[in-house]
Amino acid sequence: MDATELKAKPFELLLSQDRIESRIRELGRIISRDYMGKNPILLGVLKGCFIFMADLIRAITIPAEVEFISAHSYGSATEPGKLTLSGGPDASLKKRHVLMVEGVVDTGNTASSIVKALKRMEPASIEIVTLLNKRSRRETDIQVKYAGFEVGSDFVIGYGLDHAQLYRNLPFIGKVIKEKNE
Ligand code: IMP
Ligand code: MG
Repeated sequence: MDATELKAKPFELLLSQDRIESRIRELGRIISRDYMGKNPILLGVLKGCFIFMADLIRAITIPAEVEFISAHSYGSATEPGKLTLSGGPDASLKKRHVLMVEGVVDTGNTASSIVKALKRMEPASIEIVTLLNKRSRRETDIQVKYAGFEVGSDFVIGYGLDHAQLYRNLPFIGKVIKEKNE
């Protein structure tokens, strides 16, 4: 796909497709080693996780199940608002090793609400893997066990991440350039 077709929002390249792919392969190796014999459930947080999840699960070489949960926030395009959770997981998490799969952990509020809800289902363990980690934006002390890349506070798009529901299909991560009136 030619990225110029999607140029309505100005952005610059932050992480190339190659860098993302090789880092995901590395994460897959680490997770496969750490979860050997544990038959983990990878629980994707929609929608931002969907491309990362598809790549990560194929980089994992041990048996693993896939579930999803939806997290919506009704805020502005770049600032999250009130959070609602819906959808899965369909499988029981009781005594299971759960690995939450996120596209980005920003303030940590979404991940922290989900972890709180999941703990009521008595899993054996819950950890988080995120493609992007914005540690400097954290408002909660949530532990992120595996992060693809540490990024700054800029708003990013692509590889499943949106700006007002667009740009998820960019095959790389771009950093949105703020316009004068923003
Ligand atoms: P939280 O602040 O960690 O709760 O993240 C809330 C949600 O905001 C994430 O799951 C994303 O959907 C979204 N988000 C945060 N930062 C970005 C970004 O840079 N690009 C796209 N979405 C983002
Ligand atoms: Mg979003």
